[in-house]
Amino acid sequence: MTTFQTGAEAREIARQRAQQLAQAMLPAIEAMMTEGRTAAEIIAEERGVSAPNYAHATPIVAAYGDGAYVVDVEGNRYLDCITGYSTRPFGFVGGEDGAAMEVAAAIAAQMITLSITSRAYFTETLPPFLGAICDVTGFGAAGRVLPSSGGAEAVETAIQMTFAWAKQHKGIEDPVIIVADGNFHGRTSRIKTLAGQEDYDDYKRIGYVHDDMRAHVLHVPYGDAEALHELLEQEYIGADGKPHKNRDRVAGFLVEPIQGERGIYVPDPGYLYQLAELAAQEDIMVIFDEIQTGLGRTGKMLAIHHELPSREERPDLWKHIAVILGKGLGGGFVPSSAVIADEEVMQVMESGSHGSTNGGNPLAAAAGVKTLELLAENGYVENAARLGHKLKLGLELMGERYPGVFKDVRGKGLLIGVEIDPAFAAADELNDALLKNGLLSKVTHGKTLRIAPPLNITEKEVGEILARFELAVMDVARDKGVEFPPQIARL
Ligand SMILES: Cc1ncc(COP(=O)(O)O)c(C=O)c1O
Repeated sequence: MTTFQTGAEAREIARQRAQQLAQAMLPAIEAMMTEGRTAAEIIAEERGVSAPNYAHATPIVAAYGDGAYVVDVEGNRYLDCITGYSTRPFGFVGGEDGAAMEVAAAIAAQMITLSITSRAYFTETLPPFLGAICDVTGFGAAGRVLPSSGGAEAVETAIQMTFAWAKQHKGIEDPVIIVADGNFHGRTSRIKTLAGQEDYDDYKRIGYVHDDMRAHVLHVPYGDAEALHELLEQEYIGADGKPHKNRDRVAGFLVEPIQGERGIYVPDPGYLYQLAELAAQEDIMVIFDEIQTGLGRTGKMLAIHHELPSREERPDLWKHIAVILGKGLGGGFVPSSAVIADEEVMQVMESGSHGSTNGGNPLAAAAGVKTLELLAENGYVENAARLGHKLKLGLELMGERYPGVFKDVRGKGLLIGVEIDPAFAAADELNDALLKNGLLSKVTHGKTLRIAPPLNITEKEVGEILARFELAVMDVARDKGVEFPPQIARL
């Protein structure tokens, strides 16, 4: 049998194509300029062709990104603290830091060598990507990965995996999943059935969900491991008409290490560890949805790394853990997501039982390998911890200088929530003032501003976020005639 060594040949072909790409991009760049069109025209055009589900978006039209900033079609420059709902670990291409450009280059090189293939056959690009995911998450050699594209798709996969594991491993025929009140895991019809009662009632009123799927869901308060234990102890009446303990029908517990969409709720220290312990004791899975919290956002590679011992120290815990990644896994360039679990669990996803045409495609793999390498080696995760701490402290101090404005400042790393006191203003009013002062943030659950800048943000930019925030607070106060105690000059 002949083994072809195509590496050098592929590189030479890619080198030639890189030159062709640079040439071909110039007319493409010329074609993409939107000069002369106003934001209002473009928004009206979008409304004419799109479903109305994002009609509430901030009414600016982004033209190009520049590091931590976005510039709109009218030339306004904003410090972007939304980062595509935490999808861009390194901001946009541009700025002083070259990480985003490195990811872009890795994707472009891949694009002109081998683009999307599906998994109908094998590629060289997938193993290093999935291997890197196992390494950075802490699963190591025991980990197995199922890649996909969207966050919700990966949550669906994790639920299927957990149900199949419960059936094969524990013989549960009709399994249920436990979720936390106030959760957010995405928007497919099954995931909508996981929502807390209020959201679920809304979904049902509109007609998105059906009660038959809800029959497989139990809820516990967030942040309370004892409540989970009690729920497992509780009895229900089975199909045989007899009482059984909930633990006999529970496949697993799906939970966010920090509840992001709800408004950045950080559980008490110890909660994540207790969940992992409980899952191992009760022989259920705990699925940590790290789609928003993962890959450095909270100042550790995963939020669970703040509490969990390594797999080497406690393999028993890790056998009952699954992790879901999304958002930042594509480096801010391509949609990419994944479920990671121990081999013994993941083997239930039998050959042919599941698939995702674009999951783990060569572009996602190239983006993922470079992103994970940069995160692991270039200090971005530590930067998120250090500057996240500074930013949160700065906001807390601002709250003290302007009493009655913030109800709470919460978060970890660069995932920060600022809850606005409704007696001062609606969060939307402050958000509008932030926009006018050149800062993009997003209101979640009507009362909390989510501040999530890129992980490579600089000290100077953190200072700028705080300054713009303060200007916005003063603007709203002025409009409302609110006066604050005289400011004491600080050293
Ligand atoms: C914790 C969590 N899970 C799942 C999702 C859904 O991800 P996607 O929008 O990519 O489907 C999100 C999105 O914000 C999320 O924050």
